[in-house]
Amino acid sequence: MPVGHFAMGLIRWMTQKDPKQRMKMSEIFSYLKLSQPVTSANLKTVLDSRNRTKTIQFSKTHYVDGGGYGSVYLGRCEISGSDIIVVKRVQWLEGSQAEAINRELTALKKLNHTNIVKFFDSALDDDFIHIGMEKCLTSLDLYCRKPLLYHGIIPMPSEQQVLLQMAEGLHYIHSQIVNGSQRLIHRDVKPGNILISCDNPSVIKWADFGLSRAVVTGSKSFTWSKLKGTDRWLAPELIHQDLKTKVRGSQSCDVFALGCVFFFYLTQGLHPFGDGDKDFVQFNIKNANSVNKNKLSNEHFAFHIIEKMIQSDPHKRPKMSVVVAELKTIW
Ligand SMILES: Nc1ncnc2c1ncn2[C@@H]1O[C@H](COP(=O)(O)OP(=O)(O)OP(=O)(O)O)[C@@H](O)[C@H]1O
Ligand SMILES: [Mg+2]
Repeated sequence: MPVGHFAMGLIRWMTQKDPKQRMKMSEIFSYLKLSQPVTSANLKTVLDSRNRTKTIQFSKTHYVDGGGYGSVYLGRCEISGSDIIVVKRVQWLEGSQAEAINRELTALKKLNHTNIVKFFDSALDDDFIHIGMEKCLTSLDLYCRKPLLYHGIIPMPSEQQVLLQMAEGLHYIHSQIVNGSQRLIHRDVKPGNILISCDNPSVIKWADFGLSRAVVTGSKSFTWSKLKGTDRWLAPELIHQDLKTKVRGSQSCDVFALGCVFFFYLTQGLHPFGDGDKDFVQFNIKNANSVNKNKLSNEHFAFHIIEKMIQSDPHKRPKMSVVVAELKTIW
C-alpha cells in the first residue's frame, strides 16, 4: 500500500485481534467521510462581518474533531494556495472584544516557522471566529493514543528530531514580541495542540498558541475548565489558582507542560505524574510526585532534560533556548 494511503491505518484498526478494540461502524463511517472530496456543494462560505469579503469556506460534512472551545472541519481558503485546509470554528460569546481577537489573529498570521502550523486567514461572523490553517495528518495526542490508526502511515523523524522540532517551535513562539513589549506564551501546551504534518517525513507543528488568550480575554463567561484536557498539563503554580492568574501564565509554565509532553511521546502516551483522573494527576503535580518517572529509563537521552523541565520551582526550569541547545548536542 503506498505511503500515506488513508485506508492503511483504518484496515489495521478494523482487523486487530482484540474484538473490543476494533473500530465501531460509526467511527469507520466518520473516518471514511473525511476522505471524500470536499466539493463546492458541501462548502459554507463565511462572510466576514468586518469587511463582508469572502475569506473562508468550511464543510460541515467534513467534521474532523472538536476540542474544548471549538470544532474543526475541512475547508478552503483563497489565499492558502492549497486545495484543502483545516478550519477551526470557535464561538465567541457575548462581551467578546472583536478588536482584541482581531489583533491577536493578525499577529499570528505574521508568524513563519517550519514548526508552526501555517495560519492562512480568519473570518469573524456574528457568532464564530473561523481560523483557516494548514491541514495536518493528526495530533500528537491521537498519534500516541491510537497507534494502529496512525503509526507508519507517514515516516516519523527520530525521537531526537521530534523532541527538537517541538522545542524549536516553542522557542520561536517564546521569542516573539506581541502588543509592543510582551513575550508570546503558548498557554495551552498539550499533545492535542501539537500536530504532525502530512509531509514525508512528517514535521512537528505547533497549533492553537495565543488563541486561548484571545478567547479568554474576549469572553466574560469563559472558564478555564472548558479547555478539554488542559488540566493535566498545568504547571503546579497554576493549579487551584483563580482564572486571572492562570490566564496570565508564563513561559516557564509552557516549559513544564512541554517536559510532560516529551515524556508522553517517548512512553507512547504516559503522563509523568500519573494516568488516573484529573484530580489524581493534579495532586501529584502539586506534590512533585512523578509516579511514572521510572517508566522512562534514566539512561534515555531525554531523561535529565525532562527532569529539569518538570521541576516544581519555575525559576529552576530551563529556558527553551537551553532545551534546544541541549537536544542539539545529542547526536
Ligand atoms: N490543522 C489541523 N490538521 C489536522 N487535524 C487537526 C488540525 N487542527 C486540529 N486538528 C485535529 O482536531 C482535534 C481537535 O482540535 P482542537 O484544537 O479543536 O482541540 P484540542 O486541541 O483537543 O483542544 P483545544 O480546544 O484546547 O485546542 C485535534 O486533536 C486534531 O486531532
Ligand atoms: Mg487545539
